[in-house]
Amino acid sequence: QLNGSITIVVLGASGDLAKKKTFPSLFGLYRNGFLPKETRIIGYARTKMDRDEFVKRTTEHMKLGESPDAKKKLDEFLKLTSYHNGQYNEDASWEDLARYVEKIEGDTKQKNRLFYVALPPSVFLDVASGVRKHVYSDGFVNRIVIEKPFGKDLESSRELGTNIAKLFKEDEIYRIDHYLGKEMVKNLMTLRFANVLFGQIWDSKNIDNVQITFKEPFGTEGRGGYFDEFGIIRDVMQNHLLQVLSLVAMERPTGTDAESIRDEKVKVLRCIEPIKLENALLGQYVGNGEKPGYKEDDSLKNKNTNCPTFAALVAYIHNERWEGVPFIMKAGKALNEPKVEIRIQFRNVSGDLFKDTPRNELVLRIQPSEAVYMKFNNKHPGLSYQTLQSDLDLTYHRRYSDLKIPDAYEALILDVLRGDHSNFVRDDELDAAWKIFTPILHEIEQKQVQPKEYKYGSRGPADLDDFVRKFGYDRSGAQNYEWPVKNVS
Ligand code: BG6
Repeated sequence: QLNGSITIVVLGASGDLAKKKTFPSLFGLYRNGFLPKETRIIGYARTKMDRDEFVKRTTEHMKLGESPDAKKKLDEFLKLTSYHNGQYNEDASWEDLARYVEKIEGDTKQKNRLFYVALPPSVFLDVASGVRKHVYSDGFVNRIVIEKPFGKDLESSRELGTNIAKLFKEDEIYRIDHYLGKEMVKNLMTLRFANVLFGQIWDSKNIDNVQITFKEPFGTEGRGGYFDEFGIIRDVMQNHLLQVLSLVAMERPTGTDAESIRDEKVKVLRCIEPIKLENALLGQYVGNGEKPGYKEDDSLKNKNTNCPTFAALVAYIHNERWEGVPFIMKAGKALNEPKVEIRIQFRNVSGDLFKDTPRNELVLRIQPSEAVYMKFNNKHPGLSYQTLQSDLDLTYHRRYSDLKIPDAYEALILDVLRGDHSNFVRDDELDAAWKIFTPILHEIEQKQVQPKEYKYGSRGPADLDDFVRKFGYDRSGAQNYEWPVKNVS
């Protein structure tokens, strides 16, 4: 479709996201030969910057590695780039950008354009309409990539959606959820649907509970202004964790094309009832003597905020496969470790011949250090007949040599170039996602529900273990179990 020619316009090119993710990912793609033959990259933002400053900012987070070739590749890549500044809400600026783009494109015949909006919601609509009105390339391929937050609740998301739909067609829009670009998340479909054994046991008859956990060891330092408006539920649960959940729970799609996959995701999301406050545990971190508490952040305006920085929420899926199985989503900032994983805990074996055998668990570690492992029971080797918990372990860096897993953004931008929507969020999917979370979000705000305190660097609020136990998670198997390799990273 692109016929080897594209102009990529990065809107918000002076910002953090562009610097940390967009430009390094574009470079990664260039380096591996994945950018179309004729690619031009134009940065656009309000900030005035000369070439040196632009180059300094865009290359700051690029990892060149040891390869002697890298510097050469970077120089080549930079030749594709240029920067232009202007306003976001003035027609004159957009007309000016349009002329600039034309100039850079020269006499190329294929004026395909990709607009990457790396900007906050406050300017989002101005930018989308400025681009549509003035920089859209009639008769060619146009694609627009947008980043969350897509609204703050069902109503604001719908309003935003209606406004975008007036400007771009759904198949031109790529709503990024970068978790969908992560290797282990992409592996979910393969694992489930390319293995007969998982297909057979993937239901309420065999699975007792599912936990999807997101842990970060750092707080919101310096980001308090943004974070306080959103909180952990909007920041990572309504999007990243719910996307993971839908891939774990959906039915087999009829094909691997984007619409077949997204149809199934929407279908399963629509079977989830809105999460109830009684099925939630909320937390907010306090200082630990060394690190400051959430409320001590200077960028925070409301010092009495009840914004959760931790939440454990339980969702139920009302369909034949999952009725009664709790899906426990847990997410928190300022916890004891960095970890994102899916833990599927199976039911107890019937007629417990070996007495108190721990439950089987299938764990998919999304990060750090991608791994799939299955906890199972084995006879203690030797003369003993005791049962011993062990694991079938597929830790990627041990199994695959020369492992190079691309950054999620790199994988997703490549999908955009290929016109593949599979790993992007469709409008009806977003709607279904907000329906699950909006009632509880409003209730927390209206009733000013107070989160439980937990210390910076801890596992979360003290009630957490009791909470997950209440929903069926049996931790007894974890007591005597140690991951064989410590400090995986
Ligand atoms: C972002 C959130 O979407 O995801 C951040 O806004 C969070 O708060 C980040 O830190 C986590 O992404 P990753 O890829 O580092 O796990």
